[in-house]
Amino acid sequence: MVAAVRVHKHGGPEALTYEDVEVAAPGPGQIKIKTHAVGVNFIDAYFRMGMYPSPVGMPFTAGNESAGEVSAVGSGVTDLKVGDRVAFVGPLGAYAGERLIPADRAVKLPGNISYEQAAGMMLKGMTVQYLVNRTYKVGKGTVVLMHAAAGGVGLILCQWANHLGATVIGTVGSKEKAELAKKSGCHHTILYRDEDFVARVKEITSGKLCDVVYDGIGKTTFPASLDCLRALGYFVSFGSASGQIDAFNINILQTKGSLFATRPTLNNYVAKREDLVATAKDLFDKVGSGAVKIPVNQTFKLKDAAKAHKDMEGRDTTGSTILVP
Ligand SMILES: NC(=O)c1ccc[n+]([C@@H]2O[C@H](COP(=O)([O-])OP(=O)(O)OC[C@H]3O[C@@H](n4cnc5c(N)ncnc54)[C@H](OP(=O)(O)O)[C@@H]3O)[C@@H](O)[C@H]2O)c1
Repeated sequence: MVAAVRVHKHGGPEALTYEDVEVAAPGPGQIKIKTHAVGVNFIDAYFRMGMYPSPVGMPFTAGNESAGEVSAVGSGVTDLKVGDRVAFVGPLGAYAGERLIPADRAVKLPGNISYEQAAGMMLKGMTVQYLVNRTYKVGKGTVVLMHAAAGGVGLILCQWANHLGATVIGTVGSKEKAELAKKSGCHHTILYRDEDFVARVKEITSGKLCDVVYDGIGKTTFPASLDCLRALGYFVSFGSASGQIDAFNINILQTKGSLFATRPTLNNYVAKREDLVATAKDLFDKVGSGAVKIPVNQTFKLKDAAKAHKDMEGRDTTGSTILVP
């Protein structure tokens, strides 16, 4: 038996219960991982509250990201062995002392990446990798608006986009968060709880507006985010921290300047093994070179997962949050 955090009934953070579970031996194509660190992500809360249905039914073990060492290998697995250091983003079940995953969803960790860093960056960092390279190609001179710039995805995106030569504008919930975002390469910050962020974007860009808006907030920043875009700009709605955007009339994209809108998710961008490996490699290279640092600003014990969710949803966290068994 190993310790795990499970959800028996959808609800708030209190729905996370700490209990023991049995972990079977790995089947064909699977590996068993002894968990060293677990990533905490908003998607964990979406599953917990039932916004996303659990593909394994109820109850389920929470969590979609962790790092650890391979403790057993199923038949047919040839490229991983017991003792290998790995990380993964994948099926539910990460909030546990040990778990099974399909071997083809794991990536080997380079020696210079710690388990804690890996748990703080695989989901968020690979998301940033595709957002700035594939969803919209950020480069020298691109003007980016990043909402929640001091958050987990936010601090990584600010650094990465700055490294690519972009001008980064970030919205943040407090002055302390503004300082943090600035230290991570955000050129201009907007306190969007107090300031009209559209007016501030107009002012900062002298009316030219942004090429791309990365919006993980959803309900409360829509449709204002569209008003931050130049004609033919890209609205990238990649999350719903404040709730999902309601159905809208697509003609709004025409009236606001023939805009493009997309709702991407990491799963699609790394569905093919070669994309997963290439995306992870670029992330490891950026972190290895020092171009991107992974701020793991909150560490909780696995048994305190409910507190980690409460803080994340209460806007009390910055950078990445991890759980350790
Ligand atoms: N599509 C994908 O592939 C993908 C992958 C990873 C993450 N995501 C999404 O990216 C977003 C950020 O994820 P994260 O893990 O890095 O979280 P996070 O940014 O660390 O936390 C969310 C932040 O959103 C801001 N926020 C604004 N309104 C909020 C509200 N009503 N409730 C809670 N937070 C609110 C808060 O920052 P302020 O206090 O500064 O406002 C909060 O700290 C989430 O929407 C997540 O679902 C998407």
